[in-house]
Amino acid sequence: MRKRYGVMAAVVLLLIFGGLFYQRLKGEETEHKKSIRIGVTLYRGDDSFINTIRSNMEEQAKEYEKKTGIKVVMEVVDAKGNQNAQNSQVDRFISLGYDAICVNMVDRSMASNIISKAMDADLPVVFFNREPVEEDMRRWEKLYYVGENAKESAVLQGNILVEAYRKDPASLDLNGDGKVSYVLLEGENSHQDSLIRTEWSIQTLKDGAVPLEKITGGIANWDRSQASAWMEQWLKEYPDQIEVVICNNDDMALGAADALERSGIKRPVKIVGIDGTPQGLEGLRSGKIFGTVQCDNREYASVIFKIAAAGSLGQDVKKEVTLYQDKYYECSQKAVRAE
Ligand code: GAL
Repeated sequence: MRKRYGVMAAVVLLLIFGGLFYQRLKGEETEHKKSIRIGVTLYRGDDSFINTIRSNMEEQAKEYEKKTGIKVVMEVVDAKGNQNAQNSQVDRFISLGYDAICVNMVDRSMASNIISKAMDADLPVVFFNREPVEEDMRRWEKLYYVGENAKESAVLQGNILVEAYRKDPASLDLNGDGKVSYVLLEGENSHQDSLIRTEWSIQTLKDGAVPLEKITGGIANWDRSQASAWMEQWLKEYPDQIEVVICNNDDMALGAADALERSGIKRPVKIVGIDGTPQGLEGLRSGKIFGTVQCDNREYASVIFKIAAAGSLGQDVKKEVTLYQDKYYECSQKAVRAE
């Protein structure tokens, strides 16, 4: 009997010391990791907002290197709107033994393939801007998503116009017929934010008692030239009616402004966007755009980077970044007006 107790005690001690030793080893491994490798794949490298995030991430990587002495290899690739190409890019990151990947999905409903491969390779994934469906996000604890709250962007955008109307109804109702006549430019219909931005922007105007009349609308896929083509057509069809142009992002707002400029129409049509990209803010300064909603691009990029870096080092990501449901982060936003 005594012998049995002796063996049991020895086993318990072995487990305790073994565990401590393993933890120490792991700790040392984390402490001593002198470099991390992060792969980033973008749905389109020519998207203005995504480019702003990309350059901010590159800056974050440099700052992190300076601060920690840990070398960061960050490879950024462009999927050029092709999901198969993006899947191959992820395969390559995995075969090269990268420590974490950041994925801006081409098709947000197709994340499951990438997730399965990352799980097999034990590779943390930070999705951003194009949100995988919840069912996919729930598959593993090392999946994260960084984005913006679409309703918040839209309410801020709507309020820019509500405030303008309250101050001076004639600034929006240019022909004084008691209605604010608007056209709408929407992002990709497969993007989780497009519908919500449209819905809540209009709802905010209604809640703010702005008398609205929709003339028409179109999908311009976040793109400046597609938006410009729509607007050119509408200005021909409704040359004296358009008073406000509500756009799901800044690039489309700039496209609408391009068409307005080309048309030679001098009425002060009010154009609003979302993003606060450098181009959008420049448009605001030069009076092309009336208002936009800016998400804090630095914060956005720094959170993506921090999660990827902590994940690469096997650290507890939740200690580095405040996440909700342990995987989601929403970037803060503010309205920016021309004045
Ligand atoms: C949106 C952004 C757009 C475009 C899009 C790409 O959040 O407002 O400008 O970048 O993401 O997914």
